[in-house]
Amino acid sequence: MKILVTGGAGYIGSHTVVELAAAGYEPIIVDDFRNSERWVLNGLREITGKDIKIYEIDCSSEALGDVFRQEKDIAGAIHFAAYKAVGESAAKPLDYYENNVLSTVRLLRCLIQYQAPLFVFSSSATVYGQPDVLPVTEETPLKRAESVYGRTKQICEDVVLDTLKSGVNLKPILLRYFNPIGAHPSAKIGELPRGVPNNLVPFVTQTAAGIREVLTVFGNDYPTPDGSAIRDYIHVVDLAKAHVSALGYLKKGGRQLVFNIGTGHGNSVLEVVRTFEEVNGVKVNYRIGARRPGDIEKIWADCSLAEREMGWRAELSLADALRDAWGWQQSLKRD
Ligand code: NAD
Ligand code: WQD
Repeated sequence: MKILVTGGAGYIGSHTVVELAAAGYEPIIVDDFRNSERWVLNGLREITGKDIKIYEIDCSSEALGDVFRQEKDIAGAIHFAAYKAVGESAAKPLDYYENNVLSTVRLLRCLIQYQAPLFVFSSSATVYGQPDVLPVTEETPLKRAESVYGRTKQICEDVVLDTLKSGVNLKPILLRYFNPIGAHPSAKIGELPRGVPNNLVPFVTQTAAGIREVLTVFGNDYPTPDGSAIRDYIHVVDLAKAHVSALGYLKKGGRQLVFNIGTGHGNSVLEVVRTFEEVNGVKVNYRIGARRPGDIEKIWADCSLAEREMGWRAELSLADALRDAWGWQQSLKRD
């Protein structure tokens, strides 16, 4: 079964391509490499033993229709392609609205026109803001997003919901990812931040590797046990598998629209640093700094709905993810 994977050369997309191929799907990537590298395809070939087909086009452009026309029997799509940097989204709001929202509209039109109804959308825990009650369930009310990026995800969720309500043939799922970290255990694919990483774990691995001098822990005065902020960090391989489960669920006629995809556990920034040091036997030079504007204090997911409905749950630990993140970082150093 052919599944289009927009953004399939990116961090989460590439890991999902691996899991789709392992589950017997035929993933077809649409990616113009605006935030990824062509050599990711070599890693995919080495892991899967297959040449994954790729269309190098902008998926918010009309060229997307050509892919559906050429491939003919596409069953659906997983839509990863988007811009994702919270800070940058404030500086470039129109880029974010244009890419994130228009690509979703374009893809939905194609799915409807070419009768490819399966649709898995990459949403984010960022749509919840700082929730009043933890853990967050899919019923937790959304707050106005803190960032332009977060707003694009809220808008796209509404676009999907409204399209569904219009009665067209669409079988959608919105996956709200918590904090994806780690890499494939083979160290052949992983996260490739450009420039200074925004996210915690790539900053940790680059500091341990000596690329960055010091990690700043953003705040130790939060009302949490050790004062640093808490997130639900999920291994990217577990996250990738959630997409396979989502497709299986849709094929069986599952009708639940929204799922939290996390581990169900929160870990603080300092716990991440300590676990990384313990599991890898390396030191991370860090200092305590001010809170980062816009950060929330704590969040973690209730993922029981995904387990009940889709039979999916995270299997890998924080230590697994941090070990694999370090393996990936070291493989980059060797190149
Ligand atoms: P990524 O930047 O590594 O991957 C996105 C891929 O999409 C890249 O390969 C990029 O080249 C491609 N792309 C972007 N716009 C495109 C376009 N118009 N046409 C063709 N290709 C395009 O990002 P990621 O971390 O893999 O994130 C994937 C999705 O998951 C995004 O929608 C993101 O918002 C969402 N998400 C990510 C996180 C996270 O922390 N990484 C958390 C929650 C949600
Ligand atoms: C995690 C924790 C930081 C860097 C973001 C997006 C979210 C989602 C995932 C896409 C926080 C702390 C970080 C550093 C630090 N992306 N930190 N020093 O902010 O939870 O979520 O990425 O959807 O939408 O907002 O992830 O990895 O940036 O930060 O202390 O150098 O690490 O303050 O507590 P975040 P993160």
